[in-house]
Amino acid sequence: MVKVEKFINESIGKIRDDVNGRAIIALSGGVDSSVCAVLANRAIGDLLTPIYIDTGLMRKGETENIKRIFSDMNLQVIDGKEYFLNVLKGLTDPEKKRKAIGQAFIRVFEEEARKLDVKYLIQGTIYPDRIESEGGIKSHHNVGGLPSVIDFEGIIEPLADLYKDEVREVARALDLPREISDRMPFPGPGLAVRIIGGVTEEKLEVVREANAIVEEELLEQFGPWQTFAALIEKGTGVKGDMRVHGWIIAVRAVQSRDGMTAEAMELPWETLRKIESRITSEIPNVSRVLYDLTPKPPGTIEFE
Ligand code: XMP
Repeated sequence: MVKVEKFINESIGKIRDDVNGRAIIALSGGVDSSVCAVLANRAIGDLLTPIYIDTGLMRKGETENIKRIFSDMNLQVIDGKEYFLNVLKGLTDPEKKRKAIGQAFIRVFEEEARKLDVKYLIQGTIYPDRIESEGGIKSHHNVGGLPSVIDFEGIIEPLADLYKDEVREVARALDLPREISDRMPFPGPGLAVRIIGGVTEEKLEVVREANAIVEEELLEQFGPWQTFAALIEKGTGVKGDMRVHGWIIAVRAVQSRDGMTAEAMELPWETLRKIESRITSEIPNVSRVLYDLTPKPPGTIEFE
């Protein structure tokens, strides 16, 4: 604990020394950017503007949660829902989707930064990000690599030497709520990589609702490393006495140490049945629910 307190005090001091003007941070709601925002806010107060982009690819309730948790900061919430849907229009290839989302993030963020006349960028890059960005099977999109157009006077990365577990410890010491400090990983491109192929508003709504049900049923009770719902395609089913052509939802729940390998969790049958029954009854246009048994490798954790 002493080490954590020391890290917090030193980081705040260092940010205060290094930042000499307005600064921004892209706040995603993940633990890294949240911790950075709190440290920077303690260091420079209202000189920091955290920017949160609501891409429409977020989980249920995410934007409201962020607004509530960071209500004492100078937070700017940008509604990018239409823009991101537009950017994704017609794209079905996973890597093209990732790239388009990454570029859209940069564009929106830079536009806001320009309006604010900021000089400094604060980023939640952690130690493994630096390693990963050198290799990488997927073009992992994070808001890293941002400063392409804007000439920042300084880029500050207070967490650059920390591992994820250490960031979580700092988050707890900073009194961030557990929903942030203990949060499971969520991909930067959000629900877009949990929809196979093209992204539409309808598919987003379905996968968002299904995901919320899966989290409710599994997160607290089974402590998975990661769990979520993905939307596969359409399939035929029967609801009432009508044949329906409804969405197929896959449920994923894995244990893993670092995301590099993973095992599907062995869940009780009645839990799986309850998830199936909730998803098919609470979301009208879903006709089928599958449970993914595939370990990584040969699968990946996400579906795209
Ligand atoms: P995969 O699917 O490659 O996922 O087995 C391993 C871990 O990485 C997350 N993931 C991503 N994170 N941008 C991210 O920031 C991405 O494009 C991305 N793709 C996968 C995934 O959720 C898992 O934790």
